[in-house]
Amino acid sequence: MNKDTIALEENEEISEMKKINEELSESNTILENAYLELVETLRLAVEAKDTYTRGHSDRVSAYSVLLGEKLGLSSRKLKTLKIGGIFHDIGKIGVPDSILLKERGLTESEFAEIKKHPLVGAEMLAPVSYFKNIIPIIKYHHERYDGTGYPAGLKGEDIPYLARIVAVADSFDAMTSKRSYRNSLTRKKVIKQLEIGKGTQFDPQIADAMLDIIINEPEKIKEVQKI
Ligand SMILES: [Fe+2]
Repeated sequence: MNKDTIALEENEEISEMKKINEELSESNTILENAYLELVETLRLAVEAKDTYTRGHSDRVSAYSVLLGEKLGLSSRKLKTLKIGGIFHDIGKIGVPDSILLKERGLTESEFAEIKKHPLVGAEMLAPVSYFKNIIPIIKYHHERYDGTGYPAGLKGEDIPYLARIVAVADSFDAMTSKRSYRNSLTRKKVIKQLEIGKGTQFDPQIADAMLDIIINEPEKIKEVQKI
């Protein structure tokens, strides 16, 4: 085989590789679009269930991203936090409205019903491989740093990191949102609760990141509260 023939074969191989790469990136684009459509469909399902949940989920998503940025996470992890925040309560679709909209005075069995939502949500999204990374967020966003949370009673760093971030964002939004039976907590009270919760409810480092944002970047929080 002379040099020219070898060069020709190499060229053919390169153009074949290029073709395969182009086809692969085209398939990825199609998959990415299908994924985004699925996200949108699920988002509509969440909104239809409860308008409070909608605003709450969008804000939890935004606060989680702010925390992720503060903690120096990669853009891939920030994307996971964004989607995970939107869907952290998706399992509430399985909770009857009579319980979900009650807000106060829940009986023990009603509360037990609500406590199923992290597992229900994780099961709902399990068949979709694209959601693989957000499932730990959905499943463990009600765990507490001291191990007294649910559904698994995981403790400290056994709780997936992104779930610990969403847990802080979730509580922060609950504290700063007005409910039918109470006003939102004052800034001073929110700061106190985050301080008290360090190491019990919250990962101390993540609670500190939230405090840092509240104290030094309040404009970012105001921006999220417009959602
Ligand atoms: Fe939840």
